[in-house]
Amino acid sequence: MKKALVVYSGGLDTTVCIPALREEGFDEIHTVTVDVGQPSEDIEQATQRAEILKTQHHVVDAKMEFASDYCMTALAFNADYFGYPLSTAIARPLIAKRAAEVVEKGGPFDCIVHGCTGKGNDQFRIEYGLRLHAPDVPIRALIRERNWTRSEEIEYAERVGAPIAQSKDKIWSIDENLWGRSIEGGRLEDPNYEPPEEIFQWTRSALDAPDSPQVVEIGFECGRAVSLDGRRMDALSLIQEANRLAGLHGVGRIDIMEDRMIGLKVRENYECPGAVLLIAAHKALESLVCAPHERRFKNLVDAEWADLVYKGLWGDPLFEDLAAFAAQIQKRVEGIVTLKLFKGSLTVVGRTSPWALYSEADASFDDSSFDQNAMTGMVQTHGMSSLLYSRIQQKLDG
Ligand code: ARG
Repeated sequence: MKKALVVYSGGLDTTVCIPALREEGFDEIHTVTVDVGQPSEDIEQATQRAEILKTQHHVVDAKMEFASDYCMTALAFNADYFGYPLSTAIARPLIAKRAAEVVEKGGPFDCIVHGCTGKGNDQFRIEYGLRLHAPDVPIRALIRERNWTRSEEIEYAERVGAPIAQSKDKIWSIDENLWGRSIEGGRLEDPNYEPPEEIFQWTRSALDAPDSPQVVEIGFECGRAVSLDGRRMDALSLIQEANRLAGLHGVGRIDIMEDRMIGLKVRENYECPGAVLLIAAHKALESLVCAPHERRFKNLVDAEWADLVYKGLWGDPLFEDLAAFAAQIQKRVEGIVTLKLFKGSLTVVGRTSPWALYSEADASFDDSSFDQNAMTGMVQTHGMSSLLYSRIQQKLDG
């Protein structure tokens, strides 16, 4: 009796693992799909395919936890890895954690199997998470072990009759969760090839977006988005609604060159309408309530956080330290940000907070309570060292 658990998305990479395991003599195969807010059709498709493939299938609903603990944390750090809001990256630690729970309940298993290829980042994230939460169970990476190309996977699936949707023309590799959708592969691998409209599902093209702008108000408490247009919502409903609204107006498409952990540059496309909207709002509020030194330092903190999370090191000691710092600042990230969505553009048009470090009276051109004469000495000594340098520079050049 050989028993395996496949961390199963229902996509090509994880689907081909199942017949491959049978060929290796595994006779009891379990599959687990962790629901992190991907479209419900994806969850259903995974369930149907698991049925066809005769696995014992588990669906774990982690949507709420993902929205509340992972997406809202990403928001506090303005999640940004060179333009990518880290949507796939933040879900991996949770998927690994919840898969490990199935191991604990339904075990013992001889191995846990994932479908990550040997070229991407997800192999690091998933395997680290599994080693963290299920340290005693061997991990198998079947695609990597077999060094399979995507076309070889498709051929194999066709040969053994495994249910897949890809064909050699529609070869996109897609990963989806509440925080975003990533699309790669096929002709997109040419960085000079414009993404065809068909790859997008969550965002309209600017051309098809409504002809009148829509104003949206996001309310924050402790750095978390808590309301939309004055309606208080739980994290999951709020992010879903943000996805819908921004997507409708064509906001949230991202096309970047990304530097993967192993040093490979890849071309990635994302649709992250809700994340883009909420992060813009969150940044606008931080810029109102944070002191200048804090803002500079928070940028560094955000970048460090993004780097750790890109590498899948959720819970690393530095991750905890950064979280403590961010929590201190987020206490003041409270207020309302108003944004305008219009034909692919997103503009912050207003912000208010009880903790604003802004004095309209002092900054205004129409107010005389601040004595401008107080500035004279400060302005006269500004740039002293630059001035001294310019003098010796003349000598140097002469
Ligand atoms: N490059 C992104 C990351 O490493 C997304 C990978 C998503 N995978 C996919 N099958 N499209 O986080």
